[in-house]
Amino acid sequence: MEAEMKKIGLITLLSLSAVAADYAQEIEARQDNFQYLDATVDLLDDAFDKEVLDWNEIMPLAQSAHLTVEEQKTLFPEGSADNSRARTKIWAQKAEFEGKFDTLSQQFILISEAAVEQDDVAARAALDKAFAQCRSCHMNYRSLW
Ligand code: HEC
Repeated sequence: MEAEMKKIGLITLLSLSAVAADYAQEIEARQDNFQYLDATVDLLDDAFDKEVLDWNEIMPLAQSAHLTVEEQKTLFPEGSADNSRARTKIWAQKAEFEGKFDTLSQQFILISEAAVEQDDVAARAALDKAFAQCRSCHMNYRSLW
């Protein structure tokens, strides 16, 4: 009887860790992507601090950031909050959550369009709006620890 209980306990433990491990790859990939996005927007920010804007530097950074954000939308499968800082509220409000990624993604498209037009006012406005999306989503959907 006791041996049987232990066996059941062990099986439960094994299956729980299998479930938790299921999303380890997505979690690692999205966290890496966020680090990459962070570095990319830092470079963009620096690029806009220059006396004379180098649109050839800005354009590929904006395109890269756009692609990273698009990928992020695929890396939040339901139930992947454990062992990450994603809040479970994400899946209760999935449309709103994804809407923030869409708005963010759109800003990087606007920056690359502004780069074609060499319109620094429009580009700066889009970058400000992008940073506001980072903050707003973190306040709502990222846990503090
Ligand atoms: C739609 C929501 C959303 C948007 C928009 C967003 N983030 Fe995040 N971010 C998150 C969530 C949720 C996490 C926690 C992810 C996890 O732990 O798996 C996170 C984590 C991070 C991390 C920590 C990654 C790590 O190594 O654990 C960084 C850095 C980051 N975000 C940067 C940014 C930047 C920069 C922007 C804007 C350009 C941004 N994020 C926009 C939701 C968002």
